[in-house]
Amino acid sequence: MTQDEQKQLVAREALRYVVEDAWLGVGSGSTANFFIDALANSRLRIKGAIASSVNTAERLKAHGIDVDELNNVSDIPVYVDGADELTASGAMIKGGGGALTREKIVAAVARKFVCIVDQSKKVDTLGTFPLPIEVIPMARSYVAREVVRMGGYPEWRMGFTTDNGNVILDVSDLRIDDPVALEDRINGIAGVVTVGLFARRGADVILLGTPAGVETIVPKR
Ligand code: A5P
Repeated sequence: MTQDEQKQLVAREALRYVVEDAWLGVGSGSTANFFIDALANSRLRIKGAIASSVNTAERLKAHGIDVDELNNVSDIPVYVDGADELTASGAMIKGGGGALTREKIVAAVARKFVCIVDQSKKVDTLGTFPLPIEVIPMARSYVAREVVRMGGYPEWRMGFTTDNGNVILDVSDLRIDDPVALEDRINGIAGVVTVGLFARRGADVILLGTPAGVETIVPKR
């Protein structure tokens, strides 16, 4: 089974978690795109979607799915999104597509985070995938120096601007033994909008695509 087939498998499986007649949080990236397509082809009726990026909003609308603003919504029972790396405890690196800040906001509102990934994303320790950090443009060099002091190797994602008008630093070589502590530490640097570590609010359910089918993991809290 190819990686895309594994993504499609977990995208379809995630439909089982959709709460009808309620708002649905929808993430970004190729796996989330497969989920949007599966949702559009299903008979599920939702009140509407809250999108974590402009691209996701456009894809939802192209399928005729209503999209509303988060400020108009107070209850999102479920958020479905992918990840760049994740552990069995539900901690994730996200932001490979640059939508990390809106993803973290929608995830914070949602009661349940359903993470859909192919098996290549599961790791014992986070950090092989470069950690994205969304930064206010004028703080880029300062944040990069602070990250170097922490042992990381930051690279400016050249030519990329987030949906919020900011820049991204992709950081390699960081030791992520304690994802919650590192998330707090990086978020504490002046000029950082969001770090792509999702550990304080991790996944509640992981749907892992494997050649043998979908493995469902419910991390212990
Ligand atoms: C988008 O900013 C990311 O957080 C994505 O959720 C993550 O990169 C997973 O993307 P893929 O499903 O394309 O691997």
